[in-house]
Amino acid sequence: MADIIDGKAIAAEIRQDIAADTQALIAQGITPGLAVVLVGEDPASRVYVSMKEKACAAAGIYSVEHKLAAETSEADLLKLITNLNDDTDIDGILVQLPLPEHIDESKVLEAIDPTKDVDGFHPYNVGRLMTGNPLFQPCTPYGVMKMLEHHGVDLNGKEVVVVGRSNIVGKPVALMCLAENATVTICHSRTVDLPQKVAAADVVIAAVGRPEMIKGDWIKKGAIVIDVGVNRVGEKKLVGDVDFKAASENAAAITPVPGGVGPMTITMLLYNTIVSAKRRAA
Ligand code: GUN
Repeated sequence: MADIIDGKAIAAEIRQDIAADTQALIAQGITPGLAVVLVGEDPASRVYVSMKEKACAAAGIYSVEHKLAAETSEADLLKLITNLNDDTDIDGILVQLPLPEHIDESKVLEAIDPTKDVDGFHPYNVGRLMTGNPLFQPCTPYGVMKMLEHHGVDLNGKEVVVVGRSNIVGKPVALMCLAENATVTICHSRTVDLPQKVAAADVVIAAVGRPEMIKGDWIKKGAIVIDVGVNRVGEKKLVGDVDFKAASENAAAITPVPGGVGPMTITMLLYNTIVSAKRRAA
């Protein structure tokens, strides 16, 4: 049976370091600050934003939340971002996605000062990641990399198969694995013979958002499986993109859902905020 890669435990360990770094910065007169902007009433977004706030408080990071009405104009949102860009108490700015339809998401993300872009979504930071000189790395894929590192997985020369090509997870995690000298294949909904591609992987990173789409018998014996998917089935049950039980029979190590990649995302947001505050202190 596979080892379980425990995201909750890894996240708790990293958060301890973050709390210690925060105290050290405060002693230098720099309180790390994060601004979170939420537009509208999306229930899932509200839950994420309140989790981010609690995590900041627990780590000693100053956080301000800007909750704006769903009908807020694009111009008003851009004005708020300009103010946050200029606010010397703020090291990180996060605009919760998705935004309401009348707001141009690219325009908003591009308005954020790239040196405060703790989500790593600004095209400047996407370009820095692409060229192998990142300033901020996006939180979920960065969390995946930290989990692999904590589990002692050396990607050098390994076959990594990423399933999913989103800007938030699939594409950036592929670039991060490439930077670690893996041979990377990105698969997606149009990939022909996905089972065969997955079967060739030493490391499978699943980020497609389809419940248990990746079957256990596709997984090579001894492979590492990282499941980024969080899919609600029925009223309460959450499952990943991988059939966990069957995959555990072949994998050497696997992340559970929940309790795998999930807790890492906010952890890496705090981490990026501290990185930004350290740059301010330097
Ligand atoms: N919505 C879903 N995931 C994310 C994320 O990582 N960052 C932001 N800003 N919005 C999201």
